[in-house]
Amino acid sequence: MALVTLKETLKGSVQGRYAVGSFNAANHGMVEAILAASEELGTPVILSIAEVHFRYLDLDKFVSYALHRIEEVSTPVALHLDHGLSMETIKRGLDLGFSSVMIDASQQPYEENVRITRSVVELAKPYGVSVEAELGFVGGGEGNLVEGSVANPSDFTDPELVADFVEKTGVDALAVAIGTVHGPYKGQPALDLELLREIRGRTTIPLVLHGGSGLSDQDFRNVVANGINKVNFYTHFSLAAAAKVAELIKGGKPLGYPDLTTAAEQEIKSIVAHQIGVFGTPRVI
Ligand code: 13P
Repeated sequence: MALVTLKETLKGSVQGRYAVGSFNAANHGMVEAILAASEELGTPVILSIAEVHFRYLDLDKFVSYALHRIEEVSTPVALHLDHGLSMETIKRGLDLGFSSVMIDASQQPYEENVRITRSVVELAKPYGVSVEAELGFVGGGEGNLVEGSVANPSDFTDPELVADFVEKTGVDALAVAIGTVHGPYKGQPALDLELLREIRGRTTIPLVLHGGSGLSDQDFRNVVANGINKVNFYTHFSLAAAAKVAELIKGGKPLGYPDLTTAAEQEIKSIVAHQIGVFGTPRVI
């Protein structure tokens, strides 16, 4: 099909009570695995590139490759800049051709988060690009694969601010903090579903859950049933692909580099496909 905006991939998700997966790609094999899962299931997908992963990439070349591949697949795909941390990164992302950007000013005081997010919405408008922002703070280590974290309830989204934030900024999707963290968890994640329901009651725009890895299928069904429309997911398939490669090497058979990368891609594809099923994303082709 073609490149679409985040707004387009999430159209109908609030009414339909389903979520679309947003999967981070930090190399070419990850792009292929994510797009292959989307095509196999006939569902839209959000292909994300996070600023913390820029260190692995030549961003200009990688985005042009991703855009080219998106045009070749049969499903609608948004190319999303995940956790843009500065105006410079957002501007660069807009010029490179992302169809969606996230500005993460969640650690700023409320009024500053509003101001920064509003200016990104203004900047993105002429490009026709969607904007996601975060209210409250989802902790943990974005891109961290080692240490587990616990969500801090004092960082959770204040439901009283939701309507005001959405109205003042004009964002297309809102990331909320309800108990998830980026990267591995210390212990079991405890999700505040009551808070999620309250937030859902305060706005009609799609809500985003960051830090999907480590949640059970039932957790996902619960958050989707209570108002989440986009789930960000990365750490689990990144670790699983690396474990697959380690297992093959340990097996002792002589293997070439493509044997390892192909096995890693297969692993990612099957995890992404499983998650898409759990999120309830409807087939569109
Ligand atoms: P995980 O790596 O914990 O799945 O989180 C991904 C994420 O939220 C990207 O923004």
